[in-house]
Amino acid sequence: MRHFFPVNSRDIVICRDAGDLNRRAAEEFIRLSHRAVESGGRFMVALSGGSTPKGLYELLALDAYKERVPWSKVQLFWGDERCVAPDHPDSNYLMVREALLSRISMPAENVHRMAGEQDPGLAASYYENELKKSFYLMAGALPRFDLILLGVGEDGHTASLFPHSPALAESRHLVLAHYVDKLKAYRLTLTLPVLNHAAEIAFLVSGRSKAEIVKEILADNGGTSVLPAARIRPPAGRLTWFVTQDAALHLSPR
Ligand code: 6PG
Repeated sequence: MRHFFPVNSRDIVICRDAGDLNRRAAEEFIRLSHRAVESGGRFMVALSGGSTPKGLYELLALDAYKERVPWSKVQLFWGDERCVAPDHPDSNYLMVREALLSRISMPAENVHRMAGEQDPGLAASYYENELKKSFYLMAGALPRFDLILLGVGEDGHTASLFPHSPALAESRHLVLAHYVDKLKAYRLTLTLPVLNHAAEIAFLVSGRSKAEIVKEILADNGGTSVLPAARIRPPAGRLTWFVTQDAALHLSPR
């Protein structure tokens, strides 16, 4: 059964606090996992890194939640990764392993880690091939994730797409490795075309420090914005912002 979305539809869910955001996002994760498995036999999801989603992953690992997710049919990917070893404290994979994977049971082959320990260029092409294989992609096709979780930095970056980065203009590759000047580090990231091809995208944003950038992003028309998170507008997908009250401080009441 195909799901049709109004073009560029966007929902903003104001959450009381991080706990409320995690609970709402967990319910959405579970709902979408069942919808995907019912319609396509599996749930293709790309996880966000950073600190905000850790609480969601820990919640999904609790008995009250993990029993409700068809983990054997979930294929886990990452939206981005730091170019570090999988046991490095900065690794997004390590964060997910500690918060979720170590507490649930799912087939190891369903966990598609970005190889942060490899040469960045090689890791990007390996992951691109992993996507092509996992999504059975024809040449030139884009993977359509059932859900992509994203966070947003105070500078408006999302995944590892940073303002003014040439990576924002990438239209051929599915995965990019690039040096991020401000971080003095290499990152791996899904590219904008892949992110915007998703059926569902959920931003998880918490904390007073994000209030200014959230206002800027949501006020932006998104087309050519320098703010990468404002460029996330899936034309054939649904975009939901889960935002805590303190991060939504500057949003006008709807
Ligand atoms: C990463 C993330 C990044 C993150 C934002 C927000 O690898 O760090 O993919 O895009 O979502 O930086 O991070 P916080 O949730 O820690 O504020």
